[in-house]
Amino acid sequence: MRKKVSIVGSGNVGATAAHWIASKELADVVLIDIVEGVPQGKALDLLQAMPIEKRDSHVIGTNDYADTANSDIVVITAGIPRKPGMSRDDLLNTNYKIMQDVVGKVVQHSPNSIIIVVSNPLDAMAQAAYKISKFSKNRVIGMAGVLDSARFRTFIAEELKVSVENVTAFVLGGHGDTMVPLPRYSTVAGIPITELIAKDKLEALVQRTANGGAEIVKYLKTGSAYYAPSAATCEMVEAILKDKKKILPCAAYLEGEYGIKGYFVGVPCKLGARGLEQIIEIKLTPEEQTALNKSADSVKELCAVIGV
Ligand code: NAI
Ligand code: 2OP
Repeated sequence: MRKKVSIVGSGNVGATAAHWIASKELADVVLIDIVEGVPQGKALDLLQAMPIEKRDSHVIGTNDYADTANSDIVVITAGIPRKPGMSRDDLLNTNYKIMQDVVGKVVQHSPNSIIIVVSNPLDAMAQAAYKISKFSKNRVIGMAGVLDSARFRTFIAEELKVSVENVTAFVLGGHGDTMVPLPRYSTVAGIPITELIAKDKLEALVQRTANGGAEIVKYLKTGSAYYAPSAATCEMVEAILKDKKKILPCAAYLEGEYGIKGYFVGVPCKLGARGLEQIIEIKLTPEEQTALNKSADSVKELCAVIGV
């Protein structure tokens, strides 16, 4: 039987994620939204691209959760994006209300699904989805680290004029200004980038990565990034559906790993058929651990505001 992925929120990230997933023929896709007509129209349009793409993914759009029943994965992108001058944290209360609306329905119709949360502020929304769903921690995962790492990889490849395929990078911590890019664990064809890029230049790339979302919001003015975020989401979906056991930086519920307990924070995770299958603990320097703790503290503050 074909796999089924439902995407809640058929806006920029949701619809573009549907595009990547369908065009890679990973699953049948259901787009759902509160706005009537939009998921139906986008889904039909995407479905009509399938003969050209030579893909048999079925895509439907709906406003009815019954159509999402028994999804293998549910991606939650419902929520408002930020506008210039707004931080991700400014979205907290509005998106928490949306999460309260959405997660219960997801659980009711797809009780065995794996939830990938995309809505911002990411780590707090993942925490909300985890608490509301009462799913086990392996079935609620937040998308941010794959995106933040991809931004870092892009900037490193541009700086060194090498293929992006040669570049691996890790960004840990919360998806916010306090995220923790880890140059020590970032390599080009296996060579640590600390050997290849001067310290001040590297610091500039780290800063650009941390501001990566804001840089795009400033250009777009009416919303935030969606091509790279949806591609990142698709990579997580693929790792789970194909049981790839792929190690990716994701927001995971920590129970003492990295000295953090009871919160979602971005860490290296192994993704496979059971969702989050393992949290990989890597050794951090005292400075890196301090930065991760600071990032976790900002996640805790947001969670306290909404009481999750
Ligand atoms: P968008 O505004 O294009 O789409 C959001 C969609 O959610 C809209 O179609 C809206 O009608 C829908 N929606 C609102 N309330 C809903 C509800 N109760 N049920 C179902 N659908 C509902 O926004 P975009 O650009 O797609 O971003 C979506 C979210 O993802 C934002 O919160 C944004 O900040 C976040 N984001 C997170 C990233 C990450 O790295 N974790 C990266 C990019 C975006
Ligand atoms: C980003 O990083 C808005 O969180 C989103 O682009």
